[in-house]
Amino acid sequence: MSPSTPAAWWRSAVVYQVYPRSFADGNGDGIGDIAGLRARLPYLAALGVDALWINPWYPSPMKDAGYDVADYRDIEPLFGTLAEAEALLGEAHALGLKLLLDIVPNHCSDQHPWFQQALPAAPGSVERARFIFRPGLGADGSRPPNDWQSVFGGPAWTRTRNADGQPGDWYLHLFAPEQPDLNWDNPEVAADFERTLRFWFDRGVDGFRIDVAHGLVKLPGLPDIGQRTVSEDLDENHPYWDVPGVHAIYRQWRTLADSYTPPRVFVAEAWINPAERLVRYVRPDELHTSFNFDFLVAPWQAPVLRAAIDNTLAAHASVGAPPTWVLGNHDIPRPVSRYARPQAGLTARWLDDLLPHPADFAVGLRRARAAALLTLALPGSCYIYQGEELGLAEVEDLPDAVLQDPMFEQTGRQSRGRDGCRVPLPWSGTQAPFGFSPDSVPPWLPQPAAWGQQTAEAQATQADSTLALYRAALQLRRTEPGMGDGGLQWLPAPADVLLFTRGNGLACMVNLGAAAQPLPAGAQLLLASGALAAGLLAPDTAAWLRLL
Ligand code: GLC
Ligand code: CA
Repeated sequence: MSPSTPAAWWRSAVVYQVYPRSFADGNGDGIGDIAGLRARLPYLAALGVDALWINPWYPSPMKDAGYDVADYRDIEPLFGTLAEAEALLGEAHALGLKLLLDIVPNHCSDQHPWFQQALPAAPGSVERARFIFRPGLGADGSRPPNDWQSVFGGPAWTRTRNADGQPGDWYLHLFAPEQPDLNWDNPEVAADFERTLRFWFDRGVDGFRIDVAHGLVKLPGLPDIGQRTVSEDLDENHPYWDVPGVHAIYRQWRTLADSYTPPRVFVAEAWINPAERLVRYVRPDELHTSFNFDFLVAPWQAPVLRAAIDNTLAAHASVGAPPTWVLGNHDIPRPVSRYARPQAGLTARWLDDLLPHPADFAVGLRRARAAALLTLALPGSCYIYQGEELGLAEVEDLPDAVLQDPMFEQTGRQSRGRDGCRVPLPWSGTQAPFGFSPDSVPPWLPQPAAWGQQTAEAQATQADSTLALYRAALQLRRTEPGMGDGGLQWLPAPADVLLFTRGNGLACMVNLGAAAQPLPAGAQLLLASGALAAGLLAPDTAAWLRLL
């Protein structure tokens, strides 16, 4: 299919990320579900997005909020039923919304039937060959097979017991112990995931976000990682991230997706540096798109953002794929809270990186609104994480007792984890649960009292609300032919201003400096993230302009 045909919707799409447990509670148990999402579909259609990506909604013991999947071809009862999922799909399509699901191929739940069969089976059995079991080191096998650490903290290996009760082999889990890594060298694993893809594609699902897309293949022999850190640039010798063999899997998946009418699509979650390695996942015969985390983690500084944009555009142009832009997701502290901190040298991958720094949340919100206009103007497709359109900040002060992210316990309570960006949305009213659940039902994480000012209902009627800004931007993006897929051209501007055109005279200007800035001569203002004073664009403000 040529990229210029209308079917290549994904090259320009704005995708809204639904974290189902926190979106809307339809049955009144304090946990979001499919019924709640179905009831709110008109809100999403009115917002003006093109597609939804739904985080895992499969049966799961919820040791990692659904990323521990026990059955890839059914629906978690907390969220509803397969029949409800099918009804949702039909209703979304009727509203013009595409639907992407989340597939988790690197690992499954320890409650998945395969792992339950593997545990009592003998070393070397076909049941164990679906996972990565190895004998331990040392005379009694009491040391893990290698030095790999779990992303959530602690060793990436857990020892099992044999049928006779004696300590046995170890199994690999790059994440929680309840998430055993699958063995992608085993053709049975690949075949089962193809079955899962077909199961959902056959029901009309438009595509998948691929969880930990760069982790499936491990280097033969499982060599020690040594002194490497996860954040350094990847190369061919990393033992488990971005091992080149992973690309063969995605070529197969692409063939499968292309066999459907219309073709189904993929977006990779792959935390990879440098961009030249990332875009290998979006070569023409592999995945369609990949999240671009370089831009997400960049501080609010014009030269850094511009370099991230240029670097991303050049790398993607080399393979002909559209870039994606994303400001947040369910793993990252919300943009308002990241941008509320002093930006120089800030790394903001986890909440713990932010907590030591003083915060000005008014500044954070101003910058997040400007960042929204920036990302929505950039070439390619864009993701909005639920609540960004309401300008919600990270909930930084959740009490220990309510934290559910496995990171908290697995780091010995050193890391506060990712719950702060997963707090249920405020829909209406002035008191918790703000229409998320029925009034008497506490949501699964407590909401801040101040969210009464920020409900979707309150913002719907305020002309200068963040919700109104997103709606206006998404509407313009639909009607302006220069937006979405394509290229950009930088225009001359002061050092702390980003200014570029998208063709058809459309321009985006972002002021990241401390002084107000004049608009380019003759520019007509289409939309701004904050009021202009005397025709000047204030600090931390963005505007969309028509250049005459
Ligand atoms: C991805 C998910 C994250 C999950 C992890 C393990 O990074 O986004 O939420 O914990 O994979 O599946
Ligand atoms: Ca519910």
